[in-house]
Amino acid sequence: MRAKPQPAAADLYVSTHARLGRTPARPLTGEESRLRTAYRLCHRITRVHDPGIHALFQLVPAALRPACWALWAAASVLDDLADQRDVDPAEREARVKAWSQALQRDLAAGTSTDLVRHALVDTALRWRLDLPDLQGAVSSTVGDVRDRRFADWAEWRAWCEALVPWVDHVRHLFEQAGAPMTLRLDRHRDYKQFIDGAQLTDILTDLSADLAHGLLLLPQEALDPFPDAEEDLRHRRWSPAVAALIAELTDLARQWVTRPAMTTGMHPGAANMLDTAACLLRAQLDAVDAGPALLKRPPRLSVVTRTRIFAPARLRAGLAWSLTPLTVPGPRRPEVTAHVPRPAAENTARRTPPPHPGGARPPQIAADQMPAHVAVIMDGNGRWAQQRGLPRPEGHHAGTAAVHEIVCGALDIGLRHLTVYAFSTENWKRDTDEITTILEAIRHDLDEGPLRDLDVRQRWLGHPDKLPQELVQALQRAERRTHTRAGLTLTMCINYGGRDEITRTAAALAQAARAGDIDPHHISEDDFARHLPHPDMPDVDLLWRTGGEQRTSNFLPWYATYAELHFTPAYWPDVDRRDLWQAITEYSRRQRRHGAAPLVSPKSTDRSPRPI
Ligand code: IPE
Ligand code: IPE
Ligand code: MG
Repeated sequence: MRAKPQPAAADLYVSTHARLGRTPARPLTGEESRLRTAYRLCHRITRVHDPGIHALFQLVPAALRPACWALWAAASVLDDLADQRDVDPAEREARVKAWSQALQRDLAAGTSTDLVRHALVDTALRWRLDLPDLQGAVSSTVGDVRDRRFADWAEWRAWCEALVPWVDHVRHLFEQAGAPMTLRLDRHRDYKQFIDGAQLTDILTDLSADLAHGLLLLPQEALDPFPDAEEDLRHRRWSPAVAALIAELTDLARQWVTRPAMTTGMHPGAANMLDTAACLLRAQLDAVDAGPALLKRPPRLSVVTRTRIFAPARLRAGLAWSLTPLTVPGPRRPEVTAHVPRPAAENTARRTPPPHPGGARPPQIAADQMPAHVAVIMDGNGRWAQQRGLPRPEGHHAGTAAVHEIVCGALDIGLRHLTVYAFSTENWKRDTDEITTILEAIRHDLDEGPLRDLDVRQRWLGHPDKLPQELVQALQRAERRTHTRAGLTLTMCINYGGRDEITRTAAALAQAARAGDIDPHHISEDDFARHLPHPDMPDVDLLWRTGGEQRTSNFLPWYATYAELHFTPAYWPDVDRRDLWQAITEYSRRQRRHGAAPLVSPKSTDRSPRPI
């Protein structure tokens, strides 16, 4: 039997849902009735906009469905606002922004005049969704208004990531209800691939509708091997090139959505939902790959196919959820401190960092002499503290201010990639108190620090094993919140080890070979690089270590094989942005050869390597 909420939890939300479509036992208050109407609307939007998603939501316990509808309806409304092809892009962008700003106000007020936002606000507060994160998910749609062209799969994937926060909120609901949909952390790659597969299926399904609006949401890299396919598609001509392209893409999407390991260890009800989603996507791909009709109308699944998928899934869902008592939280008012969610979006990020306190300005470096990627081993915190008679943890707190300085310096000088070593796989050998201080300082800085509001895309490199869950969540939140920012990519290496990274990448390649995705006899350096955690991260041009030691301590071995090395004596908390500029200036004078012979004789050049 499906678990029923306890009477204490039979609040407005549950009664709102239970009464949908039924005559209420007692007259509803004005507020109840409005909330009921709001959730009803969200239900209808989900059903009409996305019948497949609606059917999947029917596999979750009734008490969770209204929240799922509210999230999905909000995402659909935003999608529609961004997609109105008869409206010019500036106006579309203005509409999406206005919706997003109104949501910010509504979250602070705890109510909304717009019915979809009203349901979303109730869901967000009741289920304690991460509000800045929700704002981030909404804001990423703003960037989606622009015309989309993707040179390669990497660009296409970055665009797909906009969906991840919405799916994560649905996962969060399950967690809050006591039925964790938590992914094994080492399955994140599978999860992302699954979402890519779902997006690709969606794009292929909607191909005819998109083409009618002049849109082709496939990366150039996928089209290139099929000469003429793009031209034929744009004229909606079914040709051998188009047929071959569609066969290739449906095959790829099938592989991406078939990730059985993804649901390992998950609650059976949650796993059932994801497994059914995979089945549904594969059936949809079969319908896509059925010939020329694809270019005329979106292929739909037959009732027989849907019944074949959903009838057993509903049985499994009933059984799985009957084993889990669910906890449904009551409605909540916004907290005073959470009044205005922090601006989380690319469009609200500051373009200009605060100036150097002494007014120093960055040097002018010619574009072709700028490093694309600087990596820093931030060493010397402990000695800095000891030198002052302070406990070592004080050095780590002081080191945080230096990180802010260096990030500002990187933005000032126009650096594209900065990677910092904050905690190594070897640092677990330290005293527990020191480890706790380091990790807690990082978490606090992610959630509260000044980098949040700069034009910085934050990423994490390292492994979740042994890290506190709150830190992992804060890192993932920061990644999601900032993924559309374009100023500087800041990669934080936390629980990072170069050998660990290489070993895991080798394991991922072995898995790909076993799955038949790659030929083990022809593995190239590029294949290896594509299986690294951040395949788009460029090689390190300049590797800088502070604190006087001259070693690389297991830092970025794959990326830094040809890095210029720069060692400076100052302890990390004593550095400021001028030290970064100095390092870059020194770099700009180096002559890099990458194994080639020198272009000119060392005697006749004034750009020969100089000691730093
Ligand atoms: C670098 O400073 C920070 C981390 C390793 C986390 P250290 O803590 O290594 O400082 P020293 O090298 O002991 O002075
Ligand atoms: C390297 O510093 C790691 C970080 C800066 C996070 P360590 O202080 O741990 O390096 P070793 O042990 O002196 O090589
Ligand atoms: Mg050290």
